[in-house]
Amino acid sequence: MTAHQHCINPNCGKTFGIEEIHHACPNCGELLDVEYDWDRIQLPKNLRQFENYWVERSNPYRLSGVWRFHDLLPFLPMNRCVTIGEGQTFLQQAKRVAPFTGLNADRLFLQYEGLNPSGSFKDNGMSAAFSHGAFVGAKRAACASTGNTSASLAIYSACTNLMQSVIFIGSGKIAYGKLSQALDYGAKTIQIQGDFDDAMARVQQVSKELGIYLVNSVNPFRLEGQKTIMFRVLESLRWETPDWIVVPGGNLGNSSSFGKAFIELRKLGFIEKVPRLAIINAVGANTLYRLYEQEGLRWNGGNYDKVRVQKFFDQMTADGRKASTIASAIEINRPVNLSKCLRALDFCNGIVREVTEQEILDAKAQVGTGGFGCEPASAASVAGTRKLVAEGVIEKSERVVCILTGHQLKDPNATVAYHGTDKIFFEDVLGKRGVKTAEFANHPISVPNDLDAIIRLLQ
Ligand code: F0G
Repeated sequence: MTAHQHCINPNCGKTFGIEEIHHACPNCGELLDVEYDWDRIQLPKNLRQFENYWVERSNPYRLSGVWRFHDLLPFLPMNRCVTIGEGQTFLQQAKRVAPFTGLNADRLFLQYEGLNPSGSFKDNGMSAAFSHGAFVGAKRAACASTGNTSASLAIYSACTNLMQSVIFIGSGKIAYGKLSQALDYGAKTIQIQGDFDDAMARVQQVSKELGIYLVNSVNPFRLEGQKTIMFRVLESLRWETPDWIVVPGGNLGNSSSFGKAFIELRKLGFIEKVPRLAIINAVGANTLYRLYEQEGLRWNGGNYDKVRVQKFFDQMTADGRKASTIASAIEINRPVNLSKCLRALDFCNGIVREVTEQEILDAKAQVGTGGFGCEPASAASVAGTRKLVAEGVIEKSERVVCILTGHQLKDPNATVAYHGTDKIFFEDVLGKRGVKTAEFANHPISVPNDLDAIIRLLQ
């Protein structure tokens, strides 16, 4: 075997075989990484060589934007990997959106992960976790979800019939686009009286008790697949590293996997420059922002202040504080990947910001006007970029890649509420969330069913 699982706690560092199933280190409870014996793996000479694989795209593993990079995540033989055509995504040079952020027109790039089969970036990680689950012989797979992980698990289950899917969602906290996918794909759907954090705690207990394979991002194999988002970004930039990667932060799996991707690329000598990482929370779900920016929590070589973190969560419980944001995908107060995310922030000289509901929706409308659109959580990255340019942290001339994590059609309610002319709807849905204006609204115009009136309107 050239891969194993490894506890990220430097004071523990226990290793486990690839065939074992763990959601955390059985010795100390920390998260596990997938690690490789790179010396025993034959790697391409440089990143450009990956372009040669693209020529072979009639082979589904070469078409896959995940398995095309199998050399950099070789925890299973290729023929044991599962693909449904994930990772055919696009990096747009977003000239029309750039002015909104304050960047020079050619400096903003939007990575559209909504173009994946289930409409979000989750398919990158799901192809990897699902492969591992099938490899270890699991018959059922489960996740807690704010909607996208569950849609992703459900589509892999439907397309491959390798594992049945069981999904745990909070009540009333899931956008209909996402829920409709899970239902349509036939996932066993369990709605918990509680929020995502409650569902996450329960699914971990239930999967342990019943031996169901867990595909949430505590699963280290999930994050291996998500590394490939960065590989594709680099590929689109002709293997040049951008100055910044900006990503919304929820459960912090994406940011953690991006950090791991750059740690490995650097270690293997594939890149010299490492981009800076900016993680954007919503104000109503800002655990990382508080801990990292306000309380100064740092990775500290793996010896981060666990007592401080525990105190923070205890206080949250005592206050009965629940996450709340229109960006329901990132409505998470207890991010399970916090420690790995601290490592990513450390390696990528990272920063964290929080953005308001108003800032998220304005940014979302701008992304829609200038490109393919995205769901609210994804727009946090663009809102965060705008904030960082205004602060002078990001310079106008720097090259910035925002990860648009989910498709525009995932959550149409938020979009229609913003653009609609129905004042009551706007005030009811958005007003309560502190959204006062829809500066970039594209109001539908109502007109009598009369040819002259319609022509007059359009002249
Ligand atoms: N953007 C979207 C569209 C998401 O669905 C999520 C997470 C995130 C951002 C945050 O990413 O967790 O890696 O920091 N959605 C999860 C779900 C929690 O259940 O679908 P993260």
